[in-house]
Amino acid sequence: MANSHSLKLVADRATTDGSYKRLVGELWSARQRQMHSLHYVVSYRASFKPELPDFCIQRYSEKGQIVLDPFSGRGTTALQANLLGRVAWARDINPLSVAMTRAKTNPVGLDEIVLRLNEVDFTRPVAMDGYTDQLSPFYHPETFRELMNLRSHIRKNKDRVNAFIELLALSRLHGHSPGFFSVYSFPQISIPPERQAMINRKRHQEPEYRAVAPRVIKKAAQALRDGFTSDFFAVTAANSIEQENARNLKSVPANSVDLIVTSPPFLDKVDYLADNWLEFWFSGINPKHFGRDLVMCRSVQEWTSFITDVLSEMLRVLQPRAYAVVEVGEVETSAGMLYLDEVVAAAAEGVSHPQKRFVVEEVLINQQSFTKLANCFKVDNNEKGTNTNRLVVLKAIEKQGARRRKTGSRRQSAK
Ligand SMILES: C[S@@+](CC[C@H](N)C(=O)[O-])C[C@H]1O[C@@H](n2cnc3c(N)ncnc32)[C@H](O)[C@@H]1O
Repeated sequence: MANSHSLKLVADRATTDGSYKRLVGELWSARQRQMHSLHYVVSYRASFKPELPDFCIQRYSEKGQIVLDPFSGRGTTALQANLLGRVAWARDINPLSVAMTRAKTNPVGLDEIVLRLNEVDFTRPVAMDGYTDQLSPFYHPETFRELMNLRSHIRKNKDRVNAFIELLALSRLHGHSPGFFSVYSFPQISIPPERQAMINRKRHQEPEYRAVAPRVIKKAAQALRDGFTSDFFAVTAANSIEQENARNLKSVPANSVDLIVTSPPFLDKVDYLADNWLEFWFSGINPKHFGRDLVMCRSVQEWTSFITDVLSEMLRVLQPRAYAVVEVGEVETSAGMLYLDEVVAAAAEGVSHPQKRFVVEEVLINQQSFTKLANCFKVDNNEKGTNTNRLVVLKAIEKQGARRRKTGSRRQSAK
């Protein structure tokens, strides 16, 4: 283990065969929004608290090393890796996640944002197709016109500044305060237009004009409040953030990664497509292009097969003796509580590779009063949902004889 924290952990119930330790404790603070301000710039379904990658990265890696998240989401692991002086490699099948992760790890200055917004002609007339049915329950027609103009400005030139402005605009698309572009709506998910129309009727509300630029600037000031060191920009230059299926990480070479910290999607509890439809509209993303590969498994059997493929790729890309931390929760099923750490641990031990294998180092369970952002599973509202994070810590080790075989074959080929 690279670093050790002074943790007060107690043994949890034994694993079925007693083969690895399962420890439970409060691994990080239950308080909200204690980490770098940029972490909280935008909401994303089932994202974890930045305290989670912070804990894992400090515990299992060193400065300058490569940290990969194959299910990057809103880029929590990537940003925290950079803030801790590690290089971030991030992958996700959803181009929205890729755009968010890239922008978050490439922050620009507030002055650049203001200057750029001054260049946008927000008053240009725009086609109103699509406004009436889909978007009129959310936005005043003038807000819609401004959004359309900002959108086409970003699309014409997606440089660092515009990519960051897009991130800021995405964060303001819907929510419940006047800081958002929309009338009172849900902040965490894009609800369907019919549902928004119903809320409007119930609340006797109509979308009022919300100027776009000042809201983007206000959000930028909040997100950039904590600033960045020169060390941060030194490591971000080596980042690699791509759209890719975690089942086949073609762009990640074998034995190249020092640590994986990730949280896979589970079953079909979170609908990443429907819940992001406004974000897709603003970013011009067509979910048909990747929706089939976005995993929403209906059964545990299907999920076990998916996670086995992913673990096999993780083992391939990890350096020998490096760690992978896979965060999962527990799920209530008709047959009782299902502890996903057990599913991951069993699948990891069964993954096959010619030179390496996984051993389960430990399972760490963060238990605390309700963690709002960690509720990936069984979530209906903010009162329900898992209140533990179960971290399955896997170590890639070389199989006995693999090193000898490698040396032998090198000697033979030198002859
Ligand atoms: C639980 S979320 C990860 C959230 C992330 N930890 C964060 O803090 O934002 C799971 C992610 O897996 C992505 N995903 C689903 N299927 C995938 C696949 N086959 N390959 C790669 N990513 C996938 C989803 O788009 C989603 O962003």
